[in-house]
Amino acid sequence: MTNHGAMTKHGGNRAVMRREVLAGLRVRPRAVPPKYFYDARGSQLFEQITELEEYYPTRVELAILDGHVDEMAACMGPGCLLLEYGSGSSLKTGRLLEALSEPVAYVPIDISGEALEAAVAKIAARFSAIEVIPLHADYSAAYEIPTTFQPARRRVAYFPGSTIGNFDPQQASEFLVEVAAVCGPGGGLLIGVDLEKDITVLERAYDDAAGVTAEFNLNLLRRFNRELGANFDLEAFQHRAFYDPDKARIEMHLVSLRDQVVEVAGEAFAFSAGDTIHTENSYKYSRERFAQLASSAGFDVERVWVDPQELFSVQFLTVRDAASEP
Ligand code: AVJ
Repeated sequence: MTNHGAMTKHGGNRAVMRREVLAGLRVRPRAVPPKYFYDARGSQLFEQITELEEYYPTRVELAILDGHVDEMAACMGPGCLLLEYGSGSSLKTGRLLEALSEPVAYVPIDISGEALEAAVAKIAARFSAIEVIPLHADYSAAYEIPTTFQPARRRVAYFPGSTIGNFDPQQASEFLVEVAAVCGPGGGLLIGVDLEKDITVLERAYDDAAGVTAEFNLNLLRRFNRELGANFDLEAFQHRAFYDPDKARIEMHLVSLRDQVVEVAGEAFAFSAGDTIHTENSYKYSRERFAQLASSAGFDVERVWVDPQELFSVQFLTVRDAASEP
C-alpha cells in the first residue's frame, strides 16, 4: 500500500486537516470534523468505548448480525463485491464474509492507512479466495471503485456501526445517493442504524461513568497539539454530551472552563469560559424517518433486523430501478 510523505499516519492529509480545523475554529458556533478522532490513541479509546456497559450500539449490532447473518447473506446473494465504508470493524466483516455465498472481492475504504492495512491483513489471511482491494480515501470525497479479476454479479456496500449518524440529514442523503451511484441498479447496502430511544440511555452511552468517552473527546485536542502545533491545555476543557430531541441527535462538545487564548497553527483563538467546540453529532433514527431518507436517495428498504429492545437496527436496502417510482 502506498503512503506518501504528505499523508499523516492516521486520517489523510495534514494540510487538509489544518485547513478544515482552522475553518471550523474561525466560525461560530465552533465545530471540527469527527473523522479526526481516530488517530492511534483515538482508535484505541473508541475500542474501549465499544466495550463499555453504557455503550450499547456495538454490542447490540453484533448480536443482531450473529442472529441473522444467514438471512442477510441471502439478501445479498452469491458472487457479490463487498465494499466497506470505514474498515474499523473486521469482526463484523468477517462474520458477514463467512456467511456470504462465493463473494468475489472485498474493498475496504478508509481514511486511515493503518486501519486499512489491519483490515486487509485480517481478511486476506482468513479468506484466501476473496480478492482484497484496499482503497485509501475519505469516503465523503471522490474515489473510484477498482476493477476485479472475477466479475461481480452485484455490488453491495456495508456501512456498519451507525456511522451514518455522524452525517447531518443533508450529508446523509448525499452519501446514500453516492453509494447508490457506486453500487448501481440492482446493487445493495447493508447498513447499521441506531434508533431513537429513551434519553437517559442515549446520554449515558455518550457520557460513561469511567470517563472513556471524555478521554476520547479530549484526545482531539491532544492530536491538534501534536499534529497542528496547537497549545490546548487539556485541563482547561471539559467533555459535554447531550441529546437534542428536536434534531434527534447526540451532540458532543468540548467546553472551555475559563477565558483563554489558544494557538493553532500560528493562529490565535479566544475562548470565553463556557464557549464550546462542537466535536460530533450522532443522529438517531426512527424506522420511518430512515425509510424516508433511504427512499429519497433512491433506495428501497428490503429488510430491517432489530434487537428485542429495538435499540439498534441493521437494514438491507436495494438501489431502486431508475424507471420505477418511489
Ligand atoms: C462510530 C460514529 C458510530 O456516534 O456512536 C462513540 C462514535 N462517539 N462515542 C457514535 C462515538 C462517542 C460513534 N460512531
